[in-house]
Amino acid sequence: MDPPQIYVERTLALIKPDAIDKAEEIEDIILRSGFTILQKRKVHLTPEQASDFYAEHYGKMFFPSLVGYMSSGPIVAMVLARDKCIGYWRDLIGPTNTYKARETHPDSLRAIYGTDDQRNAVHGSDSYSSSEREVRFMFPDSVIEPIPAGQAARD
Ligand code: PPS
Repeated sequence: MDPPQIYVERTLALIKPDAIDKAEEIEDIILRSGFTILQKRKVHLTPEQASDFYAEHYGKMFFPSLVGYMSSGPIVAMVLARDKCIGYWRDLIGPTNTYKARETHPDSLRAIYGTDDQRNAVHGSDSYSSSEREVRFMFPDSVIEPIPAGQAARD
């Protein structure tokens, strides 16, 4: 008999250039917060790749600066999994702006490791559709399909 299949939500997490020296510490918090790291790679994006990744923000004033920053040094990309993964990861990272994060979510990763709007330590997909697109962007060979019950917890 085939094992039962469950859908475990996944999301893309990035540790940005400003927080790369804290990557191990951040990964430890991720694991202690109940996420499983399914895939991980360190990558140095070209400006073209950073521009494609953030294409939805094309035309905004901060776009050139964001692209320059995200291609300025290595980042860590991870596929995280757990129940309600997208929402829980967004909760753990906190608001985009570090100053706001420090006021309203002092325990969030951006409050702890961020500096401002741009150098805010971590990224998280904001919806199911963006998580699918972003996981495929960083892990082109990733297959998103239901996985056998219990497998994510064992990996
Ligand atoms: S928006 O306009 O509300 O959709 O933007 P927001 O969701 O707040 O942020 C989207 C990403 O842009 C980065 N950002 C900035 N970079 C540089 N300068 C400024 N002023 C700035 N404001 C926002 C922000 O860090 C977001 O990156 P991600 O990786 O998505 O968190």
